[in-house]
Amino acid sequence: MATQLFEGKEHASYYQKYRFSPPQDIQDMIISYLGEKLPKPHVLAVDVGCGTGQSTRILAPHFERVLGTDISEAQIEEAKKAAGFSNITFSASPAEEVPLGDASVDLITACAAVHWFNIEKFLKEVDRILKPHGCLAFFSYLPSMEVHYKNRTEMSKVFTEVEDVLAQYKHEKVHHVQTAYKEIYEAIPYTDKKRLVDMVTKIPMTLAELIGFIQTFSMFQTFLSREPEKAKDFIKTTEQRFLEIMEVSSNETKVDVWLNNVLVLASKPK
Ligand SMILES: C[S@@+](CC[C@H](N)C(=O)[O-])C[C@H]1O[C@@H](n2cnc3c(N)ncnc32)[C@H](O)[C@@H]1O
Repeated sequence: MATQLFEGKEHASYYQKYRFSPPQDIQDMIISYLGEKLPKPHVLAVDVGCGTGQSTRILAPHFERVLGTDISEAQIEEAKKAAGFSNITFSASPAEEVPLGDASVDLITACAAVHWFNIEKFLKEVDRILKPHGCLAFFSYLPSMEVHYKNRTEMSKVFTEVEDVLAQYKHEKVHHVQTAYKEIYEAIPYTDKKRLVDMVTKIPMTLAELIGFIQTFSMFQTFLSREPEKAKDFIKTTEQRFLEIMEVSSNETKVDVWLNNVLVLASKPK
């Protein structure tokens, strides 16, 4: 059965506001891998589990057409509202049933999403829609993020405690992220594939944006739906703790979030 933890309209608007685009290094690695495997022109890309489209819009300059799909109507509604590119369309549909023809797609991407899919069905769908030598690229940031502000080492400690509290609301599929997509990588039926780990990217954001980002986590959303008052207090207390460590009063103060990423790349044989 599909996992639908991203259906709420409020959750989708948090997504639109607080999720950031995939790191530039990862974008570059994907486009250059595709270039090695399949000569230009690159016509069609699909970003599955696209959420509100941050991971879709980055593809627009590289393809004639881009499709973003997501199982959540609320996420797709937000994706359509955001200013975009004329060559992108969005569709509310599952990653296991992409509304595109056989052997029609140059690149399939999934950002922080593949672990939610039915992997067996998704990989069959990938094989159906990819052109020969077309590529699949999926990636995610991993747990154990670090938060940096000046030399305040307690910032990351607070973040680790946040992750520990949220862990009790974790869906079982999140284990794929904790194991850096090892099982999903092994299930890809192509020999031409690679899994890159330990890629650290540093993202500057305000403390308010960090607090908003935490609220996009599926674990936090589960916490909020089960114990709304406790979850809201938890967010307030967390922000307060960060402010005290930083010795500032404004949540517009910038911090650096260090993310550890995994990237899987694969190419369909001829
Ligand atoms: C963590 S979000 C990532 C969104 C976006 N790619 C990003 O990077 O911000 C995961 C998304 O996967 C979607 N999703 C979950 N299961 C899905 C499925 N079977 N097919 C398509 N989308 C799915 C959710 O609705 C959610 O929007």
